[in-house]
Amino acid sequence: MSGDDLPKDDSEVTRTIQTSYQTILQKLKNGGKFLDVGCMFAQDTRKLVYGGAPPSSVYGTDLRGEYFTYGYKLFKDNHIIPPEQFFAADILDENDLNLRKLEGKLDVINAVHLMHVFSIEDQRKLVRRFVTLLKQEKGVIFAGRVTGSTQSGYHELPNAKSTTKSRGGKIWEHSPESFKELWREESEAMGTKWDIKCWIWQFGVHTAQKDKPNWHRKDHHGICTFIVTRL
Ligand SMILES: C[S@@+](CC[C@H](N)C(=O)[O-])C[C@H]1O[C@@H](n2cnc3c(N)ncnc32)[C@H](O)[C@@H]1O
Repeated sequence: MSGDDLPKDDSEVTRTIQTSYQTILQKLKNGGKFLDVGCMFAQDTRKLVYGGAPPSSVYGTDLRGEYFTYGYKLFKDNHIIPPEQFFAADILDENDLNLRKLEGKLDVINAVHLMHVFSIEDQRKLVRRFVTLLKQEKGVIFAGRVTGSTQSGYHELPNAKSTTKSRGGKIWEHSPESFKELWREESEAMGTKWDIKCWIWQFGVHTAQKDKPNWHRKDHHGICTFIVTRL
């Protein structure tokens, strides 16, 4: 890719994502439970509630509890989503009581731009944590996004230094293949099988930023979107 050539949407991928969103919404309307991990201001959680999911069906968690206050300031919806639906926790803390209460009870986990703040070793623990938190049944879903690259591995990125679990300014970026391999290896080791969908959306080269050290500039970078469903 060259120039400001943002890729066109692939209509089949868009359709798959839209269908999955409706499936998730329906699960929650039917009594299912949803957890947004690393939710920050929880815009994804709110979209589901504004779309008709019962407020009691959604939970949001983040390492930093102050983000929930900012979320309420931004969306002004304390009267719609009770604050008890949000709790601060380290998702890898196996002793956290709020997370333990949800173990094996969730229908859907959402993790948008969360996994890349962890080292690849911790991402393996994350996959196991997610499998444990979801119900042990067919059809449960893990969905989200992660910083991606067609060349998977650790890359030095300016914003990596501010992350909590990355390695010395480097972030592990997934290609669709490496993401699928990670999920398959860990989930199969736990005796489970999943349909793993993952697509990369490359940023393209922004010519206006050509001379600036910008992590969006390299054409192998992008965002991986994933939808993983238990078989
Ligand atoms: C890049 S932000 C993404 C926020 C949000 N999902 C979004 O897409 O707007 C990553 C979030 O993960 C949270 N986070 C980092 N480490 C975490 C951990 N160990 N457990 C839970 N959340 C964590 C951060 O506090 C931050 O809010």
